[in-house]
Formats: sequence, C-alpha cells, structure tokens
Amino acid sequence: MSTVTAPQVRRRKVRAGAEPLVMVTAYDAPSARMADEAGVDLILVGDSLAMVVLGYDDTLQVTVEDMAHHTAAVARTRPRPLVVADLPWMSYHLGVDETVRNAATLMRAGARAVKLEGGRKRVPHIEAIVDAEVPVMGHLGLTPQSLHQMGGFKVQAKTSQAALELVSDAKALEAAGCFSIVLEGIPDSVARMVTESLDVPTIGIGAGRDCDGQVLVFHDVLGIEDRIAPKFVRRYANLASDGVAALSAFAADVRSGAFPNDDESYHMSSAEADAMGLYGGGTISG
Ligand code: KIV
Repeated sequence: MSTVTAPQVRRRKVRAGAEPLVMVTAYDAPSARMADEAGVDLILVGDSLAMVVLGYDDTLQVTVEDMAHHTAAVARTRPRPLVVADLPWMSYHLGVDETVRNAATLMRAGARAVKLEGGRKRVPHIEAIVDAEVPVMGHLGLTPQSLHQMGGFKVQAKTSQAALELVSDAKALEAAGCFSIVLEGIPDSVARMVTESLDVPTIGIGAGRDCDGQVLVFHDVLGIEDRIAPKFVRRYANLASDGVAALSAFAADVRSGAFPNDDESYHMSSAEADAMGLYGGGTISG
C-alpha cells in the first residue's frame, strides 16, 4: 500500500464524507511499526517525547537534535502513515530563516511534514516553511509549549471571546497554508465551530468528537504512561502493569533457578563435551 501524503490528508473532511483521520504519536522504530500495522493514517513524532520517553516534566526540554534523532528512528521503518515531526520550543521563535532551517533538519531526518504550535503570530513562519515546500500542521488551544503562559496544562477557549479568537487563529493558519490543524484541550462546541469554518481537517485531542480526526499519545493509548490520566485519554491496554508483572516473573524465575531451562540453553555435541571432559578431567554432558 502506498504511503499517506499531506495532500491526501488535506482532503479528509468528515463533512465531505471522509472517514475520521487517526493519528498516534511514536518515537522509535518499534512504536512506529506497531502504529503502521494498526493502520493509522498519521504518525506524530511529538515533542511529548520529552515527557513520555525522556522523563522530563514538560515539553520545553527537547531540542531539534532530539526530535531529529527520534524522527529518524521512526522513518527508518518506512511506515505507510504520514510522518509528522514536531518543531520543538525555540526552534521557530527566533526568526523565519532559522525556522526553515530547523524544519529542513526534521525533513532530512525523515519527516514528511512538521507541526508547530500557535496562532496568527506564527503565520510568517508557516508561510516560510510552506514556501520551502514543506507541509505544515498547525496546533491550537492547549499548546503545551505555552505551559507557563497558560499557568499550567489548562483547557483553553472557555469564553466566547477566546473561542472567537481561536476560530480567527485557525482561519489564519489555514490561509497561511497549513494542511491540517490539531485542536487540543478546548470545549467540544469550540472545536465544532473551528471544524465547520475550515476546509482543512482538524485533528482533536481533548476537543470532543466533532473534529475530522483524533490523536492520542502512544504511551497513553497503551497504558505505558499510567501515572496521569487526563479525562480525554482512553486506555486500550495496560502495558505498564503487564510489563511490571512480566519483569517480576522473570526476576522470580532467575532467582529460583527456573530460568533459563535446558531448551533455552545452547548445547555442545556430546562428542565435543566428552572431549572437553577428557582434556579438562571433568565430566560435562551435552
Ligand atoms: O507532542 C504531542 O504528542 C502532541 C500531541 C498531543 C498532539 O503535540
């Protein structure tokens, strides 16, 4: 099956009869292979990498080099889904030229599109990246890189004024050339309004069911990250507790001598073992 492209994603509006888009994050080769086999449409190498893989408390800690390293691991699996890489904090804040250079680093690492956070003030940066022939995904609402500006991971656009601002931001991103927009942590009615006012698809996370698609973090879907459970996360597996149980069983088997057994060990031919016994003076059986 051929790989998913940004222009194909751009056409995926539910109101035009399209199936909702499915996006999941992945940060390495095994997670990319799982997402691909599951048949998702897009893989996001998200800067959530910082929190769910690298152990940081927020997403501000990852660099372009970190993102490129993990994007390359995902891309090496040559997945069918469109690979979108997050431009991390401070990679598109210092000027348009640097923004384009950073987008190029992620594309050369194997991304097929980049994502960045923010509204109207990002328009020049989005236009410059699009001008360099790189598809851009927008990200509005609860934008984790603005954690400190927002005063925490808080639902956004809860007032009518803020909701209208968000709709204008979304229209500005569409006009600047974004092929899709992530809507995170906003009331479902606001996400519906944005989705209705755009021709490009919206992909929601904590934004209700009326978006053109949904995205979740790999470690949340699979229950690998089980310390925090935001309301919008649905867990489809409990790999953290399954993993602890499996590792505990391994530890118990090692300690009791039950692992490895004879079938899990390599054996010499009995002739060679006998010969070794002869030369070594001992008796070793194969
Ligand atoms: O980094 C990320 O995982 C994201 C998603 C939550 C959309 O940006």
